[in-house]
Amino acid sequence: MKASEQAAPAVSGRALVVTGTDTGIGKTVFSAGLAAFLDGAYWKPVQSGLDEETDTQTVARLSGLAPGRLLPEAWRLNMPASPHLSAALDGVRIDPARLEPPPADRPLIIEGAGGLMVPLTDDVLFLDVFARWQLPLVLCARAGLGTINHTLLSLEALRRRAIPVLGVALIGEYEAENARIISHLGAVKVLGCLPPVSPLDAPALRTAFETHFRRNDFLEVLT
Ligand SMILES: Nc1ncnc2c1ncn2[C@@H]1O[C@H](COP(=O)(O)OP(=O)(O)OP(=O)(O)O)[C@@H](O)[C@H]1O
Ligand SMILES: [Mg+2]
Repeated sequence: MKASEQAAPAVSGRALVVTGTDTGIGKTVFSAGLAAFLDGAYWKPVQSGLDEETDTQTVARLSGLAPGRLLPEAWRLNMPASPHLSAALDGVRIDPARLEPPPADRPLIIEGAGGLMVPLTDDVLFLDVFARWQLPLVLCARAGLGTINHTLLSLEALRRRAIPVLGVALIGEYEAENARIISHLGAVKVLGCLPPVSPLDAPALRTAFETHFRRNDFLEVLT
C-alpha cells in the first residue's frame, strides 16, 4: 500500500467507528476512554454475551458518562459467540440493514464486535456494514508482537471497501518500531498508544487519554 492510496478521513457527521484487529484487543476500554475524552456518547450495535458485564456496562463504569449517553444495543444476544451464531442460538436473525447509527447530538463512538470479518449473518460481515456507513474508523491493534501482520491485513480489508480510516490506536506497551512500520507500510496515522492502565478505572483512563492522544485528531472528523 502506498501513501497515495490512503483514504482521506471523510467528514461524516458526528459518529466514529471503533473496531479492532481481533476480539479482546481493548476496543471497549479504548471506546470508554475516547467517549469520555470527547464528552461523547457510546453505542454497541450488537452485544453477544449477556452473562458477564456487557460492553455498554463496562463503558459506563470506565467512562463515567451519564446513562443517557449510553445508547441501547440494537441486538442483545445471550451467547458470547460470533453474532451470526449467537443470533441463531437465540432463534433470531440479525437484519444488517436495520443497523443504523442512532442520531446523536454529540460525538458518538460505535464499537463493533470482535474483528472486521465477524459475520452478522451467513452472508454479511460487520465490515460490510461499516462499508455502508462510510464513517471514519479507528482500528485498535495490539502494540506488541504479532500486531504488524494483523494490522496490515485489517487495513487492506478496510481499504478494499473504501472505508475511511482515521487511524490506528495501539493498545499495550508501546513499541516504537511497530508503530513506525505500521504507519509506513499501512500508509496510516498512528493516533497514539494506550498503555496498560492499572488500576483500570475512569480517572486513570482519562489521564492516559490526555497523555497519549490528541483530541483534535478525533474532533476534526466529527464536526
Ligand atoms: N489499556 C488497558 N489497560 C488495562 N487493561 C486493559 C486495557 N485495554 C484492555 N484491557 C483489558 O483487556 C481485556 C479486553 O479488553 P476489551 O474488553 O476492551 O476488549 P474488546 O476488544 O472490547 O473485546 P470484545 O471483542 O470482546 O469486545 C479486558 O479485561 C480489559 O480490561
Ligand atoms: Mg468490547
